[in-house]
Amino acid sequence: MTPTDTLGRPLRDLRISVTDRCNFRCRYCMPREVFGKDYEFLARDLLLTFEEIERVARVSARLGVRKIRLTGGEPLLRKGVEDLVAMLAGVPGIDDLTMTTNGSLLARKAEALAGAGLHRVTVSLDSLDDATFAAMNDAGVAVGAILEGIDAAAGAGLTPVKVNVVVKRGVNDAEVPAIARHFRGTGHIVRFIEYMDVGHTNGWRLDDVVPAAEIVAAIAAEAPLQPVAAGYPGEVARRWRYEDGSGEIGVISSVTAPFCGSCTRARLSAEGMLYTCLFATGGHDLRALLRDGADDEALAGALTTVWEQRGDRYSELRSSRTVGLPKIEMSYIGG
Ligand code: GTP
Ligand code: 5AD
Ligand code: SF4
Ligand code: SF4
Repeated sequence: MTPTDTLGRPLRDLRISVTDRCNFRCRYCMPREVFGKDYEFLARDLLLTFEEIERVARVSARLGVRKIRLTGGEPLLRKGVEDLVAMLAGVPGIDDLTMTTNGSLLARKAEALAGAGLHRVTVSLDSLDDATFAAMNDAGVAVGAILEGIDAAAGAGLTPVKVNVVVKRGVNDAEVPAIARHFRGTGHIVRFIEYMDVGHTNGWRLDDVVPAAEIVAAIAAEAPLQPVAAGYPGEVARRWRYEDGSGEIGVISSVTAPFCGSCTRARLSAEGMLYTCLFATGGHDLRALLRDGADDEALAGALTTVWEQRGDRYSELRSSRTVGLPKIEMSYIGG
């Protein structure tokens, strides 16, 4: 039986972070001053094993989860992640198995991921200009490497490839029409994301947010757009198609138009904490249960109880009341 939460929302998606490490230091996610040489990432023995992750996935699927997304940190840094993909591809009930990656290792890994049974990928790419991109990822990675990764993913059949662009005022907002133009007609779907106040290290300010309406208007000024209905219930992105049929874009407006009302997502951290909101301040320790020998029934019971108590709708409540709460970092909880 699929549990529903206190607001009537069923459990449908499981976002699994497989590592809290990343080879990028995006200013809005893992600023180098905080995530520097001395930062202590999770020790290996604290990470859920692939077998443990698969068990959580199997039990979740029995409870109604239909979509699994692997995230990080950077998921392709987890050794042997394609083996995990193969295990998850065998879980009955999962009809969408995907991954959000920064794309830097994708040119090397796309074939193996597709062979293991991954359905598609979403690649983060905030700029097509090397200087701006390097400033945003703070790791000196060139745009070309990510574009190669995107091509490799498309070539391997991990489609549709989605491209995530976090838009920050005064940093990459002027580039929005050019990014849309670059991907128009390629079959890849660019989604422009409002910069969010996740975690507490990125120094988020409302002034840095570019509203989705402004993004859509800037693109439509060049190429007329029409709204498209959501692809599935609770889709995070609002979809828009080019009137001339050359593709579609999406906007993710967690700040100006929150979508908590239809949020069916649970998040599992790399060390096995279960969170019911991206902005959660606390989670539920599934690793302890798994390592204490809980059977599938006990695990299902724990998941059900957590979900049935859920009342999160952070983005709808975002206000002075929530500023300063000890929120969890995006690189830890998974995007
Ligand atoms: P599709 O499965 O392709 O529809 O993608 P998705 O939107 O589920 O996933 P993706 O990982 O690409 O997320 C895109 C952006 O939306 C990221 O910045 C996420 O952090 C943000 N996002 C995803 N889920 C949530 C959510 O539940 N709440 C909020 N506030 N933001 C979310
Ligand atoms: N606001 C919006 N999106 C963010 N991401 C990471 N940090 C933030 C933030 N503060 C994006 C990444 C990735 C996705 C999982 O989340 O760029 O595409
Ligand atoms: Fe790494 Fe993604 Fe965070 Fe950038 S946004 S630091 S690529 S996890
Ligand atoms: Fe879901 Fe929390 Fe995001 Fe709202 S803020 S959509 S409840 S994860």
